[in-house]
Amino acid sequence: MSKGKCCAVGYLILLVSAGAGATPAAWLPNAPRDRDYYDGGNPSPAKVHLGAQLFFDKILSGNLNTSCATCHHPLADTGDGLSLSVGEGGRGLGVTRDTGAGPDIVPERVPRNAPPLFNLGARQFEKMFHDGRVETDPGQPSGFRSPAGDDLPAGLDNVLAAQAMFPVTSGTEMAGQYGENPVAAAAAFGNLHDVWRQLAERLRNIDGPGGYVEQFVDVFDDIDEASDITFVHAANAIAAFEAVSWRADNSPFDRFLRGDRAAMSASARRGMRVFYSPGKANCGRCHSGSFQTSHDFHSIATPQIGPGKGDGVSGNEDFGRERVTGNKTDRYRFRVPSLRNVTLTAPYGHSGAYDTLESMVRHHLDTTRSLYNYNPEQAVLPLHPDRSVARADLLVMSDPQLVERIAGSSELGPANISTREFNELIEFLAALTDPSSIDLRRNVPHSLPSGLPLAE
Ligand code: HEC
Ligand code: HEC
Repeated sequence: MSKGKCCAVGYLILLVSAGAGATPAAWLPNAPRDRDYYDGGNPSPAKVHLGAQLFFDKILSGNLNTSCATCHHPLADTGDGLSLSVGEGGRGLGVTRDTGAGPDIVPERVPRNAPPLFNLGARQFEKMFHDGRVETDPGQPSGFRSPAGDDLPAGLDNVLAAQAMFPVTSGTEMAGQYGENPVAAAAAFGNLHDVWRQLAERLRNIDGPGGYVEQFVDVFDDIDEASDITFVHAANAIAAFEAVSWRADNSPFDRFLRGDRAAMSASARRGMRVFYSPGKANCGRCHSGSFQTSHDFHSIATPQIGPGKGDGVSGNEDFGRERVTGNKTDRYRFRVPSLRNVTLTAPYGHSGAYDTLESMVRHHLDTTRSLYNYNPEQAVLPLHPDRSVARADLLVMSDPQLVERIAGSSELGPANISTREFNELIEFLAALTDPSSIDLRRNVPHSLPSGLPLAE
């Protein structure tokens, strides 16, 4: 049990205050409310409907073969179930997706895990991506800091909309490779405006009843005719869809915070104390606030697998936040993720290195040990016949010097909790799951204005 005497006292105070009456203790966060979300949680239904179609429509990819849903599918809890996503050129959906294998095909994998998209309509989520490279910043002309710099157009509703401008400009994710189509060519030359213009042009050409033109005119006050449609409008609609569809704040924990003490089991309530107690796991130090994230960047020395972001000598490393700030102290720091619906969203970590919630949490309790003992077989990587690809995926983890460097960056010392407390902690994490997120089939549109297939 608890070792430090000083901490034991703090723990006792937490224990007592958590047990008292129907009002949750002051050290607990507030349950999210409507006013915490864009549009008070109620964007226009027509805009959401339009966004849903765009999110699923492969018309937004260069080769007409990838949609946002390819990697953020409702059937895979808004992720893809893989450690690392496969974009453009892949075949199949979710964990059965492969790299479009063939001896002559270069497997294009995305070097990071596709994060779930729950609750991103809450205004406090101001930093997008594992390294926060798209971020709300009123000092910028567009209102956002991003890799596009001053190229990012004005008129984006929020940071979620700003994020939606980017997947379509990535050759690996949606645009395709140079030589395959004109969108890919523009993307390869870094001509983002041309990518966005070409995609808007495609949408402008889908008219007729129920077509995109009719819907854009209906939804946006500043669109009178097809030629007024821009990709910024599309991004705003996609953001409205994401924000409202994947709000997930009715978990047992939320109901507990709203005063329904019986909503959480006794063991989950004990796990909650383990989670928040400074003398115990102290997870709340980083996983703070209503969504269990401080939105800050820390290193917890998670294993790095996959092709990497081009960092380090081999190019297989991912320096994380340093890539954005240029600051060496930010090396291997990644954004603290929200833990809402975390039981549904495996694999975990920026490269999806851990396939189970238990192994991810255990990693936190002794990062060095976990890193050195990492078993790559748990990674959910798509099949590819070329063995050198599989070897390259483990380049970082098979280099003792790099592993030591990553281990050294950890901001987490070993934490000592009993097996019972560990199990209670997992119970608490399970209480962060909103039951309405378990089956998301309702989010899949029935048909698309482009006429392109919803499935492969
Ligand atoms: C090929 C797979 C793939 C496709 C297609 C894709 N994404 Fe993603 N998405 C990812 C990955 C991987 C990340 C994390 C990348 C990173 O952090 O560098 C991500 C990150 C995000 C985020 C940030 C979430 C967060 O918590 O920071 C949002 C929002 C998002 N995607 C929405 C979209 C939208 C909208 C589209 C379509 C326009 C789209 N994605 C297309 C794989 C994909
Ligand atoms: C020092 C800050 C910090 C503390 C304390 C901390 N975490 Fe984390 N946690 C992180 C960061 C950063 C990540 C993302 C790592 C990555 O992407 O590689 C993370 C990731 C996770 C994930 C994976 C989520 C996902 O979607 O991939 C889980 C689960 C998690 N933490 C649970 C916990 C639990 C339980 C505790 C307490 C035992 C805890 N964390 C304590 C910083 C912290």
